[in-house]
Amino acid sequence: MKKAKRLELIPPYLFVKIEEKKEELIKKGVDVIDFGIGDPDLPTPPHISQKMRAVLDSKEAANYPTSRGELVFRRAVAQWYRQRFKVELNPQGEICCLIGSKEGLAHLPLCFIDPGDVALVPDPSYPVYKICTTLAGGEPYLLPLTAENNFLPELGKVPANILKRAKMLFINYPNNPTGAVCDKAFLEQAVAFAKKHDLLLVSDLAYSEMGYDGYRPMSVLEVPEAKAVSIEFHSLSKTYNMTGWRIGMAVGNSEAVGALATLKSNLDSGQFKAIQLAAIEALTGPQQCVEDNRQIFEERRNVLIDGLNSLGWKLPKPKATFYLWVPVPKGETSASFTEKLLDQCQIMAVPGNGYGPAGEGYVRMAITLPKERIAEAIGRLKKAKISFS
Ligand SMILES: Cc1ncc(COP(=O)(O)O)c(C=O)c1O
Repeated sequence: MKKAKRLELIPPYLFVKIEEKKEELIKKGVDVIDFGIGDPDLPTPPHISQKMRAVLDSKEAANYPTSRGELVFRRAVAQWYRQRFKVELNPQGEICCLIGSKEGLAHLPLCFIDPGDVALVPDPSYPVYKICTTLAGGEPYLLPLTAENNFLPELGKVPANILKRAKMLFINYPNNPTGAVCDKAFLEQAVAFAKKHDLLLVSDLAYSEMGYDGYRPMSVLEVPEAKAVSIEFHSLSKTYNMTGWRIGMAVGNSEAVGALATLKSNLDSGQFKAIQLAAIEALTGPQQCVEDNRQIFEERRNVLIDGLNSLGWKLPKPKATFYLWVPVPKGETSASFTEKLLDQCQIMAVPGNGYGPAGEGYVRMAITLPKERIAEAIGRLKKAKISFS
């Protein structure tokens, strides 16, 4: 059997390796405190699952969906964007349903990247941007996100010869893995940059509902004129604890959304209609569950940050996401510190360099576990005399 060369371009998916290691330990009876994959431990709010149950037996649910998504789902997305961001979207041409936002982000480069083209990709970042640019035959050009620059890319530093070949610019605020946020000025700068250099601006807004201390993340589409150059990806995964349901949306520029919908109509037949109908309930039903979630994560964030800071770290409290981007102590690397945490404290974190070379020197901790477990993890660190020095 001779596989295609492109498969050789794919590094092992970060979380597959990490999950394997965790499973191995659990099989041996080890009590692992898992700060690994960013999968909410909280249940999907019951009114959403009830809706799914109610529609399951209907004839309507059983038939093929449309790959762009049911019009009722797209209308619910438009309503949610209007209420949340005051952004107007046309459900006919400016919204496409996705089988999770990962699916859309992964397919988008196939619509815009020809062999030899460049996509500007933050480093560190959600691995899909880089891998799927490569699979489309393109070249990711990495934009380092550093603490000195508040984990924002320095767009002015992209060389002219790269810009000539560049077709897309990915941004993701609130950010995975750094937990960083951006302000309106940065979004305006990104829109102006995309316009000037004829790029498609791809905003990944998966974490917009996880803002803390009164901070409310913005959509790039709130920037006037952004729609001319931008597509935004959103998802119900984190907002409504629905990671396993696989439903998200691409919104914004109709040409970009249309290109993705055309590609998808040849690859998949859309998401199960019962899931789309339950997602409508999530988007248009009671929203107290979102606030409840937010408060839980804010409290967990405080427990972990206060705990780490009592051990010598000097971490500011991230204003959004459920990720903490933790610098490793002197003399350690991302890999060695991850291993030390696992071996000495049975604590699972993700090595920062798994998100790109600029992630070296960090580990990512996802606070997707109860605050009591987070406190226990701090106790284990103390006992093992692990501190930041
Ligand atoms: C930045 C970012 N974008 C997109 C996704 C994909 O989310 P989903 O496919 O569940 O919508 C994730 C998941 O962790 C993420 O961290």
